[in-house]
Parts: sequence; structure tokens; C-alpha cells
Amino acid sequence: MIACVPASYLSPHPGRGLTFQPGLTILTFAFHHSTGTETGNRRSIPFWRNKMASVVVVGTQWGDEGKGKIVDLLTGYADCVVRFQGGNNAGHTLVVDGKKFVFHLIPSGILYENKKCFIGNGVVLDPKVLIEELDGLAANGMPISPERLTISEHTHIIMPYHRMLDGASESAKKEGAKIGTTGRGIGPAYGDKVLRCGIRAADLLDESLFRDMLAENVAEKNFLLEKKYNAAPIDFEEILREYSAYAERLAPYIGNVAVELEEARKAGKNILFEGAQGTQLDIDHGTYPFVTSSNTTAGNACTGSGFGPAHIDEVIGIVKAYTTRVGEGPFPSELFDETGETIQKKGGEFGATTGRKRRCGWLDTVVVREAVRLNGITGMAITKLDVLSGLDTLKIADSYEVNGRRTAVMPPTIHQIQAAQPVYEEVPGWQEDIGAVRSIDDLPQTARDYVKRMEDLTGTPAMLVSVGPDRAQTLLLRNPFA
Ligand code: IMP
Repeated sequence: MIACVPASYLSPHPGRGLTFQPGLTILTFAFHHSTGTETGNRRSIPFWRNKMASVVVVGTQWGDEGKGKIVDLLTGYADCVVRFQGGNNAGHTLVVDGKKFVFHLIPSGILYENKKCFIGNGVVLDPKVLIEELDGLAANGMPISPERLTISEHTHIIMPYHRMLDGASESAKKEGAKIGTTGRGIGPAYGDKVLRCGIRAADLLDESLFRDMLAENVAEKNFLLEKKYNAAPIDFEEILREYSAYAERLAPYIGNVAVELEEARKAGKNILFEGAQGTQLDIDHGTYPFVTSSNTTAGNACTGSGFGPAHIDEVIGIVKAYTTRVGEGPFPSELFDETGETIQKKGGEFGATTGRKRRCGWLDTVVVREAVRLNGITGMAITKLDVLSGLDTLKIADSYEVNGRRTAVMPPTIHQIQAAQPVYEEVPGWQEDIGAVRSIDDLPQTARDYVKRMEDLTGTPAMLVSVGPDRAQTLLLRNPFA
């Protein structure tokens, strides 16, 4: 049997009351910021179980907070891992035993025999991408049986016309109005869901229903493509053929995620809900319209999977020690100077899906407090603290001046957010390389003070501090599953 555990399992803290069950094969991982890549190896070490919990992980900023490393670490304690929103606009690369796996849809927990993965109804799924991920796993000796992966019957399917409309509508927008989407068809797919003309996984399996729905969509989308965007039309028969083949291939994986999650919960399983993107990209609560098209906040872990809200035990907010954003849209604490460039280079800040350079700026606690409130965050996982080493002074934005008025919350309109001037406090930095630090007490005093200031300004305890890409470079202060 194979289990995935965080490196911290290798040196358990005494007195945590953990019990060992020997004999499992363990995978351990390291996450490399610069490449967005994880490396790992298989090893046999003792394994223990903790309390049963349902834990949601969300990004608190504009995505790319380093969720991959934290989700991977927590996956070690989980039995089930659930994607509940977004689609293949998210991205995550892992290298296991020298083999590279790129995941945009399947939770990375799929790499471990004893984890069950779910793609919830809140996701928009591009079947071509999912099949590529499944094929990649099979080619590397890990064929995935339907017992390991369930796709919700209600998951909406990304169609070729969604991708085309995503590109066409972005191209048609004026400079300054472009969203800078990932071009994966995410917005148009969610648009169809809300307009009630979307095609869901279960619909793909009903031949005549699928044919009728597709015909209606193709007629409408061709009108838009040809008349509005002056683009080439799409071919009904071609899509029907392509997607019928996908339906046949994916049919064994399509099931009732809500029922399975309820059974897992009742059986005492640990469930991890893996958010994609970040709170400021939330369709309702983010910097609209420069957002993604789903709710990225914790409430959607429930609506996006069919899990009851009362059963969520913890919400972990991933907070990068500074701020980044990829794509267009306002970003009050953005740096346009050398410091921004230093952070970008040192942090290897490139978009995981599109490879675009991420914009970088100081930590903004207006943003993080917003996330704490909107998600009900019970603990912060602070990532990339090591990237700030070597800066003499650090700045933290704690409020904004907007048209002469001070505000400690995100302004309501895009013009006001664009006008927001961050009000900074300055704190001393640290020069030491902290990558080898393994205990919070061994951090330089100014780094500890920075973490403490984050806790004070957000009113939220840190439960984890990451000081480097490797798993071992993680200071776990509190384990939500223990
Ligand atoms: P879409 O999700 O492709 O529609 O893109 C909408 C906005 O969300 C763009 O600014 C993207 O750059 C941003 N975005 C989407 N997915 C991610 C992500 O995983 N990380 C960071 N930004 C993202």
C-alpha cells in the first residue's frame, strides 16, 4: 500500500499522541517555487492516523500562493481530496521518482494508491485535458481505476466553443478592459452554466440529449462567432464525434460525488477540499471584473461538491509572505521597482498554467483580512517567507487612501480599487538565509516579528510557515488533521 506523508512525519513531535501503523510505502515531496515543480521519492516509513476532519484549503490573495506544496503536505493526512471549483486554469507540476506529472484538474493525491480523488460539480472540466492527465499517469505505470477518481455527474463540460469564445472576447476587448484570462474557456463555460445551456458530465452520457443540447449550442455559438467576432464557425458533427469518444472514455468515472463524500464522512475519513485560484479572484467577492468565473472562497467547497457546510471543521488560508498577481486588474501594493523585480526573480514568480510573469508587491493585509472574513479562515499557512530574506526593510499595507479617505476594507468599485493608495507600515527585514530553519524559534527575531505582525494584523494564527520549496522546509505549528 502507498501513502503520502509530509516530511514532518519523518520527525514527529513528541507528545502529539499519534499511533503508528507500520508497513505503508510513503511518498515524500519537495516543491520548487522557481519551476512550479515538485520532486519526490518513495520510501517505507511508519504511518499513523489522526483525528477525522474535513479541511478546506483556499488562496487568500490572487492565486499562486503556493497552495500546491501545502495541499500536497495535507494530502498525506487525507483519505479523500476534492476539487470543487475552477478548471484547467489552475496548474501544478510534480516529479515523482524522476517522472514529471502535470495536473490541471486531477488532485495530486491521485499519485497515492490509498487516496480517493473527486472532481466536484463546481468544476468546469475540459475532457481532453483530463484524458491527457489520465493517459500521462497510465504511461508512467499508474493507470487510474474508477475506484480512485469520481467526476460529478453535474460537472459542467468545457466545449471547443468555450475556448474559442474566451479567446475571441478577450481579443475584442480594448486595452485596459482585457481580463488576461488563461484562455482555457473557463468564463464561457461558467456563463453557459448560469444561462442554463451548459452540458454536464451526465448529459454527455445520454446520446440523444447530448445531440440536442449540442445542436442548440452550436447554432447559438456560431451566430456569436461569425456575426459578433467575425471568426470561423464550428462544426457540429466534428464536436459530436470528438465528445462522444470522450463520453465513452470517461463514463466509468462519472458518479454521484455528494453521495460518496457523505459515505466517506460517515466512515470517518479525512477529507481535504483543494481550492484553486485565490479569494481576490472570486466572482462575487474579488476585484470584479478582473476575476475568474467561479467562487474561489470556502463556501464553494460545499456547493461545489455537495458536502454539507456543518461538516467542515477547518479552513486553511494560504498567505504568500508578499503579494503576486498574474493577468490584468488592480493590485494596490504592486511594486514597479527593483524590489519588485528581485522578489519576482527570487520567488520564481511565473504563472503555472500560462508561464506569464507574475506581478509582485508587498504583503497587503487589507486583502488577507478580507480573505479571513470571507472564508472563515481558522489558520494561516504562510508561504515563501524565505523569498523576503536579504531585504533591509519590508512594507506591509494595512489600509488604503482612496480619494482622500482612509479605508481598511477593499473598496467596492474597480475605479476605487484602482485609485487605492496603500498605507504602509515599515518593519525591519532579515539578512539570513532561513531555508535551513526547522523551528519557528530558530527564525531570526525580525522574521518571527514579521510572522507575528501578520497574525496581529489579520487576527488569525499561523498554523504553518514555509521557508523553502522542499517539504522539509516547513514549520508545522498546528496540524488540522491531528
Ligand atoms: P480565467 O480563470 O482563465 O477566466 O482568468 C481570469 C483571471 O484569473 C485572469 O486574471 C487569470 O490570470 C486569473 N487566474 C485564473 N486562474 C489562475 C490561477 O490558477 N492562478 C492565478 N491567477 C489565475
